[in-house]
Amino acid sequence: MKLPLPRWFAHRGGGSLAPENTLAGIRLAARMGYRAVEFDVMLSADGTPVLIHDETLERTTNGRGRVSETPDAVLFGLDAGGGERLPRYVEAVALCRQLGLLVNVEIKPAAGFEVLTAETVARSSVELWRGAEVQPLLSSFSIAALEIARDLAPGIARGLLYEQVPADWAATAGCLQAFSLHCAAKGVSDAVLAEAQAMDMPVLCYTVNAPAQAATLFGRGVAAVFTDRLDLFSPETSPYKGLHLPG
Ligand code: G3P
Ligand code: MG
Repeated sequence: MKLPLPRWFAHRGGGSLAPENTLAGIRLAARMGYRAVEFDVMLSADGTPVLIHDETLERTTNGRGRVSETPDAVLFGLDAGGGERLPRYVEAVALCRQLGLLVNVEIKPAAGFEVLTAETVARSSVELWRGAEVQPLLSSFSIAALEIARDLAPGIARGLLYEQVPADWAATAGCLQAFSLHCAAKGVSDAVLAEAQAMDMPVLCYTVNAPAQAATLFGRGVAAVFTDRLDLFSPETSPYKGLHLPG
């Protein structure tokens, strides 16, 4: 499975320049020249997939309590920053398809909802991206979620996501038939990069907000990075010649 993998992914939609995981953030990323975005998807109490990072509402919205216990009627009335609403997954996909963005959908189940979240995101991804030229990349810290994605959406690429890559990652990647390995930039070892290269598996690192760190990672063979600092790497605004999005 091949994907047109850009070097730069706008993290959580618009990084730190817009309310995270919102349509405004995704639009901003596209306006700034980004061709790929990452966002997080969780289920509401009604089982609706919604873009949000935390299991609780307090940090990124004016709501209170757990996302998994909040019904849609409340959830979609909340302010996610600057008057933005929490996007339904279906809305985010429609926008990304319209903008021609590659999307890394991070399946972010609330604890205990791994199976239901993965089933919902996998099934809806198949439907929502049917016929799209640019297909998404599904990733998760949850191996159980990726197994479900493999079984229910075999035609959509999967990224195995770790904070620290464990010694047995390659066997897990094999079982999951993973397309890519995603991990924290801090601590990614040369041994892991060499193993991934031998398996022809791209490595994507988060979260990279310093140009020198990005340059070093690319020099070591990392294929792409997730950034919150959209301004540093945009062709519109980057002062770092040669270290920005391709024009
Ligand atoms: O998918 C990469 C990255 O987003 C994982 O960390 O906590 O920002 O979702 P987090
Ligand atoms: Mg994420």
